[in-house]
Amino acid sequence: MKGKFITIEGPDGAGKTTQVKKISDYLRCKNIEVLVTREPGGTALGEKLREMLLTLEGESPVPEAEALIYAASRAQLLNKVISPALKRGCIVLCDRFVDSSLAYQGWARGLGIKELININGWFLKDCWPDITLILDIDPCQSLKRLQGKKDRLEREALEFHKRVREGFLKVQNLYPDRVKTVDASLNPEEVFQKILFEIKKSGIIKM
Ligand code: TYD
Repeated sequence: MKGKFITIEGPDGAGKTTQVKKISDYLRCKNIEVLVTREPGGTALGEKLREMLLTLEGESPVPEAEALIYAASRAQLLNKVISPALKRGCIVLCDRFVDSSLAYQGWARGLGIKELININGWFLKDCWPDITLILDIDPCQSLKRLQGKKDRLEREALEFHKRVREGFLKVQNLYPDRVKTVDASLNPEEVFQKILFEIKKSGIIKM
């Protein structure tokens, strides 16, 4: 049996991590086997690349290098973790995946969404998510939610975060069947109910 692949996307501070926890708790309560992972990271190599990407001080990677490092982490995660779990029939729930690259590197960094689809399509092949939920929120609101020390991407200017939001909305227009947006300015329980509605509507999980 083939499993199903769900990804959660959105700008920094949109509340993805809270929602990933709510969805996985819900599925486990229904006795559905779920594997939770995240990007960048999720493998030993991926976690090293994550640290490099988020904590690098001094010389920043050029956009092309940044896009390729995220892609390297993704290729490793896909082959080592996601594909085997899908083959076992699990539901895979991933905190960020390819659409972050399309929005951040493709649109906000200006490399081109088509170009990022080509780079990632090369190794994703037919392993694109079955459903992607974008937590949509005005960056003026989401950035206020970030607490403590900000990572390299979170320190970018408001203009950058506005482009990230635009990028996600463009991705939704490109893939209207797969990608759904959810208003993330609501309280966490309301956001969760909207996500659940979309997942049920898609029919990828019977519940
Ligand atoms: P995130 O998991 O949101 O970090 P945190 O756990 O601190 O909330 O993601 C790390 C950052 O990497 C985030 O700013 C988005 C960025 N990113 C990209 O620019 N491109 C990508 O392909 C991915 C997966 C993430």
